[in-house]
Amino acid sequence: MSASGQGARKRVTGARVLSGIQPSGVQHLGNYFGALRQFILLQEGNRASYFMADLHSLTSIRDAKLRRELTRGVALDFLALGVDPTRSILYRQSDLPEVTELAWILTTVTPMGLLQRCVSYKDKLEAGHSPDHGLFAYPVLQAADILIWRADLVPVGQDQKQHLEVTRDIAVKFNLTYREVFALPEPYILEDVAVVPGSDGRKMSKSYGNTIEMFAPEKALRKQVMGIVTDSKGVDEPKDPDSSTIIALYALLAKPEERAALADAFRRGGTGYGDAKKALYEKVLAYFAEARERRRALEADADTVEDVLRDGAARARAAVAELMDDVRAAAGVGRPA
Ligand code: TRP
Repeated sequence: MSASGQGARKRVTGARVLSGIQPSGVQHLGNYFGALRQFILLQEGNRASYFMADLHSLTSIRDAKLRRELTRGVALDFLALGVDPTRSILYRQSDLPEVTELAWILTTVTPMGLLQRCVSYKDKLEAGHSPDHGLFAYPVLQAADILIWRADLVPVGQDQKQHLEVTRDIAVKFNLTYREVFALPEPYILEDVAVVPGSDGRKMSKSYGNTIEMFAPEKALRKQVMGIVTDSKGVDEPKDPDSSTIIALYALLAKPEERAALADAFRRGGTGYGDAKKALYEKVLAYFAEARERRRALEADADTVEDVLRDGAARARAAVAELMDDVRAAAGVGRPA
């Protein structure tokens, strides 16, 4: 089974699809099964655009070199996992300057209260982040990302649901203030795959330090998988498959009958957690074998990746030109028609 080969749960066609990933860390199984996998599937039969949200990462990362590395890393992840630039548009957010122009226009119709209610903002303050304006306005920039495409469908993880609601509210506010310019986008959240357990059993998340990264070098990947927390049952003891993180992750990667076989082995006893983790590690490698190979090849070929992004930015700018003219005309800024 290839990384992009599993069937979609719902079939959507004919939609304008848009999503982005903030380059704030290395992608992991939670990102893949929670969102990225949907991006790849939705290319089929839709008009999809995907981007690296490097402007959003300005709110959390203050190191230019690191930002470049992570942004490039996300571009490589997209391409390696199957974003196909002949079918979709792949671009770097900062290469589409119209987004920041639109963000300012939108910010002038965005009520303070709307942003004050945002859980992600409140969470970051609680985590000790100093409350600068960029962090506060983060959802407005995200609204600009989405509305500039007149996107119908925005595949995102569960944690982004509120930002989608804010986007809709801002669109309505603009439409009421000036005139009907924006379409209202729908979130596309896959509830059953949205939460992937991390190695400590909590939701897989960079901030918990419990991630398993599909593109990590073999040794590091092995360490992440072997680090999955279990109870202390010995090899011979029967084990509960339903509460096992190993089984939950295995189920995402293996065929249903393989999952069932491992679950049976747990119930019977005679299979140690160590052996199950080894099986899981092998599955991660096998499932992402092609993608890992493609990523390695692309990594050695910086020019090709930059060419793809240059072409993506040019197509994106052409695609949003008409909407931006419409926005400027509605708001009465820019050269009069
Ligand atoms: N905020 C999103 C995240 O952290 C990233 C993002 C930025 C995004 N702009 C977007 C997602 C537009 C979807 C659409 O995951």
